[in-house]
Amino acid sequence: MDNRPIGVFDSGLGGLTAVRELRRILPGEDIVFFGDTGRVPYGSRSPHIIKEYAKQCMDFLEKQNVKMILVACGTVSSVLGEEIGAGRNVPCMGVLEPTVKAAVSATKNGNIGLIATATTVASGSYEKLTAKLMPEAKFTGKACPLFVPLVENGYFASNCEVTRLVAKDYLSAFDKKDIDTLILGCTHYPLLYNLIDSITEYKLNLIDSGKEAAVAAKELLSEKDMLSECEKGRMRFFVTDKVEGFARLGKEFLGEELSEVTRVEIEEL
Ligand code: DGL
Repeated sequence: MDNRPIGVFDSGLGGLTAVRELRRILPGEDIVFFGDTGRVPYGSRSPHIIKEYAKQCMDFLEKQNVKMILVACGTVSSVLGEEIGAGRNVPCMGVLEPTVKAAVSATKNGNIGLIATATTVASGSYEKLTAKLMPEAKFTGKACPLFVPLVENGYFASNCEVTRLVAKDYLSAFDKKDIDTLILGCTHYPLLYNLIDSITEYKLNLIDSGKEAAVAAKELLSEKDMLSECEKGRMRFFVTDKVEGFARLGKEFLGEELSEVTRVEIEEL
């Protein structure tokens, strides 16, 4: 057993999709969350900049004495690929593998769609892994760059007309593709789960990358005998921009108060 916290990071609110699932399946675990809200969005930036940001976020988490790092970000997971844990002293994992495995086991007709950030789609990461695990699969990817700013600004309610309009336009990319499974490959997108589910008329298997990553993190800790023995975990959040907005929207999504949110200066990373 290991009572140190689990470290989770993302550019912003998206990583909370993994935190929410971790709270549900591992309520005794302490969590240290790092949200790089001062530099969100990551998904339109170049790989070398994302790598530099990711290094700073992971260094920060290691300094908090975490026992593992969950990269709850599709963009960082795609850019780092196999290098994700290189040079780290704790196990590290991203969202790619658990998410693609879930998609491949959910699909019946082999037609899989992906919505993710522009950098993720351009990297081909999900597509390549899908082809490896299911060579006969037909894959269609669509970048949805407006989703992250919409979510970060609190436009994630399922009846939000603005987001609905944008989502309808993006999702029309799949109109003639006969997909039965859609990967929400950016962790911000599961905040739009209900909205996307209703636009696609509840017909698709929606794969939540944050949730799948959390489930895989539990498996990893359990295999390594590193689960905590505590009953109620503590959550601490660190962000690189204003605390208030993050705490308010985070509470709305997680359904619990974010009582410990601290601002970290980017210059100090
Ligand atoms: N939530 C992240 C992802 O999964 C980052 C999105 C962004 O900052 O653009 O890709």
